[in-house]
Amino acid sequence: MDKPMSMKTLRWLSWSLALPVATLLATAAIMSIPPNTQGIDIVAGQELFTTHCASCHFVKVGFPAHLGPNLHDIGKSGATRQPNQSAAEYILESIVEPAAFMAPSGRPGMPPDVAAQLDPEDIRKIVGFLASRGAFPDFDEIIKLEIPDRRTEPTEPTLIRFQDMKLAEQVLRDKGSCLKCHSLYSVPEGKSFAPGLFGVGLNDAKAIYESLINPDHEIKPQYQSVKVMLESGELVSGQLISQSDAELVICTRDDQNQLVLREIALAEIEKEDGLPQIRQSKISLMPTGFDKTLTREEIDALINLIRQLN
Ligand code: HEC
Ligand code: HEC
Repeated sequence: MDKPMSMKTLRWLSWSLALPVATLLATAAIMSIPPNTQGIDIVAGQELFTTHCASCHFVKVGFPAHLGPNLHDIGKSGATRQPNQSAAEYILESIVEPAAFMAPSGRPGMPPDVAAQLDPEDIRKIVGFLASRGAFPDFDEIIKLEIPDRRTEPTEPTLIRFQDMKLAEQVLRDKGSCLKCHSLYSVPEGKSFAPGLFGVGLNDAKAIYESLINPDHEIKPQYQSVKVMLESGELVSGQLISQSDAELVICTRDDQNQLVLREIALAEIEKEDGLPQIRQSKISLMPTGFDKTLTREEIDALINLIRQLN
């Protein structure tokens, strides 16, 4: 037979329930207090996120990664990405300097110019919104973040400033050695092995940036590279400068990585069915990875100058 619950059991039960119930009530009370966001409008931040970022990022738990990682708890996980960086700082860096760090997903694709359409104060709102995904952010910190202005007016040419002009020139001549290969203006066919940079219709900032980081992606037909196997067993690849009945001239790199012109007699080249084998190569002569060797300011100045003079 069931015994009625003794007084002792009842008292024990009510005590053991007191703490969880109290915690629950306290949490509910705290959560109903609107957080002080230091005036940062995180609702507007969410709307800006929807317009500028949601085509690639979900912010809801349980959704898969889309083109970019799901950011539902970035306010918490963002703080673990890099030592000495808070979640808010990491989020800001992801927006204004996307190339600085690759998310653990390891999939590139965060556009380098998302900040170009955003007012720095709008970026602050987005940071406020994202930092509160999965955490209660420190709005005192977010209000103090220094946010660079990366806006550009794609339709109206922005006038290049003198110091940017100097920066761009230094890259063209020295740091990027661009002018070792490129001419400033387009020169008659056959005289150069890289296209001219000014007055040639290069006015799409995105395409110029793409050429700088991944030149093999799209190579103009007249700058296509070739490779030939010599009878001696040596493989020579580079850009075909000229070809006659007797020889080829190829622009290639020597063992010091310097560009040199090499004349190769057709007789030296391995033959198939009696014909010298000249194969297309998918590698551009243009070096890769300028995003690693040049600073953001240098790249911006360079792109700005090229666009203005096209
Ligand atoms: C075209 C797609 C695309 C758009 C648009 C885009 N992103 Fe991303 N984003 C990515 C990809 C891909 C990554 C992962 C690669 C990386 O870290 O650079 C990423 C990474 C991030 C990260 C780091 C995530 C992590 O888990 O560490 C943050 C934060 C972020 N994006 C925020 C934004 C914000 C804010 C916007 C809008 C202003 C935005 N993204 C717009 C594709 C996009
Ligand atoms: C070793 C030679 C070399 C160097 C150095 C070099 N380039 Fe190039 N670049 C080329 C060649 C060859 C092409 C054409 C083939 C291609 O599109 O990849 C090219 C293509 C380009 C294009 C695309 C042009 C178009 O009409 O589509 C741009 C923009 C460009 N380079 C800019 C630069 C800048 C800026 C620098 C310096 C930071 C630089 N290049 C350094 C050889 C070079």
